[in-house]
Amino acid sequence: MRLGTIVLAAGKSTRMKTAIPKVLHRLAGKPIIEYVLEAVSPLSDLPPVVVVGYQGEEVQKALGERAQFAFQEPQLGTAHAVAQTQPLLEGKVEAVLITYADMPLVTRETLLALYEAQKHNPGPLSLLTFSSQNSRGFGRIVRNSKGEVQAIVEEAVASPEQLSIQELNVGLYCVRADWLWDTLPRITLSQKGEYFLTDLVALAVKEGLEVKTVSLADPVEAIGINHRAHLAEAEAVLRERINTHWMLEGVTILDPQSTYIEADVYLGQDTVIYPNTYLQGKTVIGQSCTIGPNTLIRDSQIGSKCQIVFSVVERAVLEDEVDVGPFAHLRQGAHLARGVHMGNFGEVKNSYLGPGTKMGHFSYIGDATIGAGVNIGAGTITCNYDGEKKNPTEVGDGAFIGSDTMLVAPVKLGEGARTGAGAVVTKDIPPHCLAVGVPARVIRKFKETGG
Ligand code: UD1
Ligand code: CA
Repeated sequence: MRLGTIVLAAGKSTRMKTAIPKVLHRLAGKPIIEYVLEAVSPLSDLPPVVVVGYQGEEVQKALGERAQFAFQEPQLGTAHAVAQTQPLLEGKVEAVLITYADMPLVTRETLLALYEAQKHNPGPLSLLTFSSQNSRGFGRIVRNSKGEVQAIVEEAVASPEQLSIQELNVGLYCVRADWLWDTLPRITLSQKGEYFLTDLVALAVKEGLEVKTVSLADPVEAIGINHRAHLAEAEAVLRERINTHWMLEGVTILDPQSTYIEADVYLGQDTVIYPNTYLQGKTVIGQSCTIGPNTLIRDSQIGSKCQIVFSVVERAVLEDEVDVGPFAHLRQGAHLARGVHMGNFGEVKNSYLGPGTKMGHFSYIGDATIGAGVNIGAGTITCNYDGEKKNPTEVGDGAFIGSDTMLVAPVKLGEGARTGAGAVVTKDIPPHCLAVGVPARVIRKFKETGG
């Protein structure tokens, strides 16, 4: 049974009170709609058809090639939205799976269970339900005395008796395609002024056809995002899922409640995460690292056996056995080679620090290439900006930069070069030479082996 998948995302979502499309709001670092897309994509060899309307171009731009798009304008309800997919799917698929873009917690397993149920259904339609005392405004499942589904009644039009029903419509359906295209035009306008997709159920029943239900294993999956409180609720569920996943993969998380790991982060075994840590974007962290407390790492690659404490690391690369912090700031293009020690109150931007280099206290290194085994004394600054452009600094292997040295770029320090405390280096220092003063001048040359 060839399946097509539909994701409805055309609604205006007034309750979000937002200038950006609701489904592009982020959850654990990714747009809400990405979750549904990821769950449905493996189920079909055709890209999902996303129905967009209000701010549809922005949604289309965000998803690009991964989906096909149908435009719904004006938005006349969920049945009208599904009808817009007919030109893209008719004749190509035998069944369609209909999902809502604002339900990011639904799992692939749940969707598969629904698909399986419909495969074995002689009737045209299967749907997911769950029971809860908190109706969340969901449609109610009306059954007859034999327990057979008769209809879904929307809260807006339900009688008081129907409102007390606790079995609710999740909003996910698997429907036989030919029957769907025949039946959609027969849905009539509701009192609310919309064409309700949920009316399919009553129409099937009227024809004497079987409607199957599958019950949701975990009601949490039914959380839909209609306003910001729902967004926070879903965020909490995702956070718990992500943290549990990594703990089961061998990561120690001291306090999952205060650990914020986004969906695309990867963590190696035996890494320990201390509280109040934020791991974001496409961050990869190796094995046996210690991260946090109070650390934010975004879009960075961290090797194994690294320690990062009370620090901010953005778009940086740390090789193995690097230790950073407390209060360090690594910015875009910082690359710390194996065994680098970067202590407190340092900032590194667009710079390479070679293996074993030490930068203990209060330094700024920007646009620099620093060799191996260099000692960067307390308070060293690369004066990389001349008011117009950023200039490079180069420091050779084994150099020793005295405390409070200003390296006025562009400037080069040769291998084994040294500066005295407080030197303001405006000219290159040859290898194995010591320069002191303001402006710095060379006063001594060392033997290459000595110091
Ligand atoms: C819908 C269901 C309800 C179910 C609930 C679960 C209907 C009529 N009701 O109600 O039974 O319990 O979901 O979340 O289907 N959309 C469009 N075009 C439109 C209208 C909506 O694409 O014209 C999209 C929305 O963007 C959203 C989805 O369809 O992704 C659901 O629409 P929404 O208005 O949120 O439906 P509910 O009132 O929540
Ligand atoms: Ca909804």
